[in-house]
Amino acid sequence: MTTRRTKIVATLGPASQSPEVLEQLIVAGIDVARLNFSHGTPDEHKARAQLVRDLAAKHGRHVALLGDLQGPKIRIAKFTSKRIELKEGDTFRLSVTHPRDAGTQDVVGIDYPDLIKDCGVGDDLLLDDGRVVMTVKNKTADELECTVLIGGPLSDNKGINRRGGGLTAPALTAKDKADIKLAAEMELDYLAVSFPRDAADMELARRLRDEAGSTAWLVAKVERAEAVKDDEALDGLIRASDAVMVARGDLGVEIGDAELVGIQKKIILHSRRYNKAVIVATQMMESMITNPMPTRAEVSDVANAALDNTDAVMLSAESAAGAYPVEAVKAMARVCLGAEKHPISQKSSHRLGKTFERCDESVALAAMYTANHFPGVKAIISLTESGYSPLIMSRLRSSIPIYAFTPHREAQARVALFRGVYTVPFDPLAYPADKVSQAAVDELIKRGAVEPGDWVVLTKGDSYHGTGGTNTLKVLHVGDPIV
Ligand code: G6P
Repeated sequence: MTTRRTKIVATLGPASQSPEVLEQLIVAGIDVARLNFSHGTPDEHKARAQLVRDLAAKHGRHVALLGDLQGPKIRIAKFTSKRIELKEGDTFRLSVTHPRDAGTQDVVGIDYPDLIKDCGVGDDLLLDDGRVVMTVKNKTADELECTVLIGGPLSDNKGINRRGGGLTAPALTAKDKADIKLAAEMELDYLAVSFPRDAADMELARRLRDEAGSTAWLVAKVERAEAVKDDEALDGLIRASDAVMVARGDLGVEIGDAELVGIQKKIILHSRRYNKAVIVATQMMESMITNPMPTRAEVSDVANAALDNTDAVMLSAESAAGAYPVEAVKAMARVCLGAEKHPISQKSSHRLGKTFERCDESVALAAMYTANHFPGVKAIISLTESGYSPLIMSRLRSSIPIYAFTPHREAQARVALFRGVYTVPFDPLAYPADKVSQAAVDELIKRGAVEPGDWVVLTKGDSYHGTGGTNTLKVLHVGDPIV
């Protein structure tokens, strides 16, 4: 069984949708497949999802499916010539009334009616992820007149951000609402909400998800300046979510690259503190879109995220549209494994000196304390209904694998995202109550994860179903009779 604790999220796209490539990605170790709803049709997503499930089953792997909603990315409209070239000092206008497909060297339309209200003279606007920058010099009833600060090519439908944030489109568009229904139909495991401003946006997404009949856990993409303006805003968003993504593309554009790394570290720390899983995303292996080897800077980026204890690192274009998708996954896996050898990723002071709120949390954390401090413990078994108990355990640093034993398809896939957690399909109700612990340990022996003489820490509840019931911690000696 794999021993890599840091999980890999790989975005699927044209470069990775063939059964051959997808199979190689699964064998190379992806834990979550991301379907980007900004591109592709529902039928394409359904076909990819089915293929992931079939190939994962073929290889006995549990790969979660994450649907990423497009969200209200604000974009310019189109140019008559598809593409223009702006020079520093040029005057350029953004217009809410200009025809949508007739942009020129001087003006382009934009589909965001509040643009004029939300922007003021002196604001900096960043187009195409900051490749082109302009400052607002003047505004009229339907246009912003800007001066180009950084020139470059500008083509159809490029994104636009304001430095400091504040372009306040609501987080869920009509397309997103339709895609939430699609996610329910596809039984996706995770659903990422793009550009949420605050907890209220996540609560709305949660309501729509419930109405659609989906059980997907919600991932808040942190990508607006508003979301990180202070601890209260960030923590509110994190607490309203099930998992968090550090979406560095737009976030970096809005807050500037100088602040980005510190904020990334803070988001990882706070997510773990609030018992949420966390994914670091965007450009982690960017040069591997065209090269078979990562740069030293990329190696360092991935390794540092692993050392900061992120649950997962993510590939975007590298696996969706690059020339080396399989190599990118292999490189990520290798670098994470290397980083995990470092002692700081194995010892923890998580919640030391804090009180716990719930019985199951207390038992889960006691299990980790026991496992980390009692030499000889080779595995942790968490009997779980929803994945919650192993989630709590995996917030604490450790080098001991946490095996999530669960009969439910949803939980089997969901835990694939959690750091250091591995799925074992197991139904406690298939055994008499006094044989469950023995059966669970036997399963790990069968998989080669433990052998006689090893110690195993096991948690469970008094009844063998129902979430939240964990109240028992056993320390078991493999080979001795177990009840
Ligand atoms: C399984 C076990 C129970 C345990 C529960 C915890 O159902 O058989 O004994 O109480 O998982 O589930 P949770 O969703 O809270 O991790």
